[in-house]
Amino acid sequence: MLARLTILSVILSAVNAEFLVLEKRENPPDGFLLVGAPPSDKVLNLRLSLTQNDISGLHDTIHEVSTPGNPLVWLKTFVAPAQDTLAQVNSWFASNNLTASPVTAAGDWIAVNMTVSQANDLLAADFSTFQNKAMNTTVVRTLSYSIPGELKGHIVSVDPTVNFPVRKKSVAPLKNRAFGISATRAPAARSVSTDCHASSQWTPSCVQQLYGIPSAPAKAVANVLGVSGFGNAFSNHRDLKQYLETYLPNINPNTTYSFISIDDGVDNQLPLDTSSEADLNIQTTIGLATGVQVAFLGTGPPENSNDFSDYLDEANFILGMEQPPQTVLNTFAGFNSENSFQAPAMISLCNAYAQLAARGISYIVSTGESFFDCEAFEAPFPASCPFVTAVGGSEFNVDETQETAFTFGGGGFSTLFQRPTYQDAAVEGYLKSTGNANNTAFNVSGRAVPDVSALSAMPFVWQGIINDGGSTSFSAAIFASIVALLTNERIAAGKPGLGFLNPFLYQNPQAFQDVVVGNNAACSTEFAFNATAGWDPATGFGSPIFSKLLQIVNGL
Ligand SMILES: *[C@@H]1O[C@H](CO)[C@@H](O)[C@H](O)[C@H]1NC(C)=O
Ligand SMILES: *[C@@H]1O[C@H](CO)[C@@H](O)[C@H](O)[C@H]1NC(C)=O
Ligand SMILES: *[C@@H]1O[C@H](CO)[C@@H](O)[C@H](O)[C@H]1NC(C)=O
Ligand SMILES: *[C@@H]1O[C@H](CO)[C@@H](O)[C@H](O)[C@H]1NC(C)=O
Ligand SMILES: *[C@@H]1O[C@H](CO)[C@@H](O)[C@H](O)[C@H]1NC(C)=O
Ligand SMILES: *[C@@H]1O[C@H](CO)[C@@H](O)[C@H](O)[C@H]1NC(C)=O
Ligand SMILES: *[C@@H]1O[C@H](CO)[C@@H](O)[C@H](O)[C@H]1NC(C)=O
Repeated sequence: MLARLTILSVILSAVNAEFLVLEKRENPPDGFLLVGAPPSDKVLNLRLSLTQNDISGLHDTIHEVSTPGNPLVWLKTFVAPAQDTLAQVNSWFASNNLTASPVTAAGDWIAVNMTVSQANDLLAADFSTFQNKAMNTTVVRTLSYSIPGELKGHIVSVDPTVNFPVRKKSVAPLKNRAFGISATRAPAARSVSTDCHASSQWTPSCVQQLYGIPSAPAKAVANVLGVSGFGNAFSNHRDLKQYLETYLPNINPNTTYSFISIDDGVDNQLPLDTSSEADLNIQTTIGLATGVQVAFLGTGPPENSNDFSDYLDEANFILGMEQPPQTVLNTFAGFNSENSFQAPAMISLCNAYAQLAARGISYIVSTGESFFDCEAFEAPFPASCPFVTAVGGSEFNVDETQETAFTFGGGGFSTLFQRPTYQDAAVEGYLKSTGNANNTAFNVSGRAVPDVSALSAMPFVWQGIINDGGSTSFSAAIFASIVALLTNERIAAGKPGLGFLNPFLYQNPQAFQDVVVGNNAACSTEFAFNATAGWDPATGFGSPIFSKLLQIVNGL
C-alpha cells in the first residue's frame, strides 16, 4: 500500500510539474471576500475558449469584408479551432470521463460540466466561495488555474474562473446635483425651436432638432435595431406607452418592441423588476429611430455567471442568427473598465465582436461613466475593443455657449488593444496638437475611445415616473438610432446596411459637430482628457450631423 502511494505521488508531482498556469490574480476584486469552500460535489458549468484557427486573418480582412450577410461558413474558416486542438482537448476530457459540447457554431467555445473536486484536480485550481455584500451575490471562483502542459496553445481560457462580476450600472438622476449636470438648455447658437431653448429638458423632439434627426417614420423594410439587456433586465410596456404619449404625439403609443430571449432571459413585466437601463434604451431608440423595428435582446444570468460571459453569450447568439439585427446597442457596461476583467476574457469577447463586424453588424457601445476609478487613466471596456463603435457623452451647461464634453463620460487609451489603423491619423493629430505624444501616464499606442459622442442627458419614464438621466447610455442610444435610420435608408434603396462603422466614421469627420470645450474630469482633473479641435479622447469626433451622414451614406 505504501509503495503504491509513493508511486502515485511521484506520478502526481510529475503531472503537476507539467501544469501551465493559464491565468491568475493575487486577490479577488475589492468587495469580494473568501467565505469558504463550495461542496466538493457541486457541479460547475465551465466553458473553454479554444485557440481559433486564424483570428489575425479575420482582423486583417474585416475592413474589406464587413458587409452584411457574410455566411457563418466563411467565418468558420477563421474562428474554428484546428482539428488537432479539438482532438487533444477532447482526449484530455475523455480520459477523465468528461464530455464537452460546442456552444458556438464554429466550435471555438465548448462547455463541460465537472464537480468542484474534479475541476480543482484537472485545472490545479482552488475553487472557493466568494461573497460580495454590496452586490448581494455569492460566486464560486478560483484565483488561479492551470492546464496540462501539452495543451499549451490549444486552450485560451476557462470561465468562470478568475473573472468576477462587475458592479451593475444604474442611471443617475439629473436632479442629483452630485452627478454634475447643472442645466441642459440649448445655447442660442443651436437652431432648435423656442420651446427647446426655453426648456431645461432635452426631450426627444429637441434632440431630433439638435442633430437633424427626421421625425417622419422610416420606410417599412427588414431592418432591426437590437437593444441589449443583461442580468434579466427588461423594459416595461406601460413605461414606453407613457413616454410616447408624453413626448412623441406623432408616434402611435401602442408602438412596441419584440423580445428575444438569450440564456432564458425573462420579460415578465413586473413593474418593480423593470430595469431603468432597459427602459431608457427602449424609449430613446423607439422615440428617435421612428418607424424602425426595435428588438430587445434580453440575456438572462446563467448560474454563476459574470458580465463577461453574458456579453459573450449575447455576441455568440447574434452570430448564430440567420437574420441578425443590422445595428446593436449595448450600454450595460457602465462601470466596466479594462481593469474589471483579465486579458484573455477581454480578448475572447473582442474577437466575438470582430465576428459581428465581419457579419456586417454595427455594434455600438457607450463609454460608460468615468468616475469609478480615480487613481489612473483607465480605458472603458468593451468600448476599447477596436471592432465596436464607442460613443462618449456631451452636454450643455448654462454658462457655456456650445456643446461640451460630458464631465462623467468615459474615454481614453487601451492598454490591451493596439490602435487600429483606421484611427492612426486622428489619434496622431490629437497627440501632436496636445503635446501628449510621449505621455507615459496613458498608453498612446492603444486603441483610443470614444469614436464619436452625443448628448448624455434626456428624460425617460421608469416605473411610471419621469426621470431625468445623465449617462452615456443616452449618447449611445441616440447614435444607434441614427445608425438604424441611415441603415434603413440604404436597405430601402436595395443596398446592404452599413456594417462595421469605424473605418467609415474616421474617413468622414466632417459629418460631426466637433466638440472643443470641456473635459471628462468628473473623477479627477489629473486623470482626465480635454475636448480639443479634431478627434479627442473625451468626445471623439463630436456629435452627429444627420443630414451630412445621410448624404455620405447615400453616396456609398
Ligand atoms: C472512468 O470511468 C471508468 C468506468 O466507469 C472507470 O473505470 C475509470 O476509473 C474512470 N476514470 C476516471 C479518471 O475517473
Ligand atoms: C451541464 O449541466 C447543465 C445543467 O446544470 C446542462 O443544462 C448542460 O447541458 C450541461 N452541459 C454539458 C456540456 O454537459
Ligand atoms: C439578496 O439576494 C437574495 C436572492 O439571491 C434575495 O432574496 C434578497 O432579497 C436580496 N437582498 C437584497 C438586500 O437585495
Ligand atoms: C392602442 O391599443 C388600444 C388597445 O388595443 C386600442 O384601444 C387603441 O385604439 C390603440 N391606439 C392606437 C392609436 O392605435
Ligand atoms: C500599450 O498598448 C500595447 C497594445 O496596444 C501593449 O502591447 C503595451 O503593452 C501597452 N503598454 C502599456 C504600458 O500598457
Ligand atoms: C517624443 O519623443 C521623440 C523621441 O524621443 C522625440 O523625437 C519627439 O520630439 C517627442 N515628441 C514630443 C511631442 O515631445
Ligand atoms: C487638459 O488641460 C489641462 C489644462 O490645460 C492640462 O493641464 C492637462 O494636461 C490636459 N490633459 C491632457 C491629458 O492633455
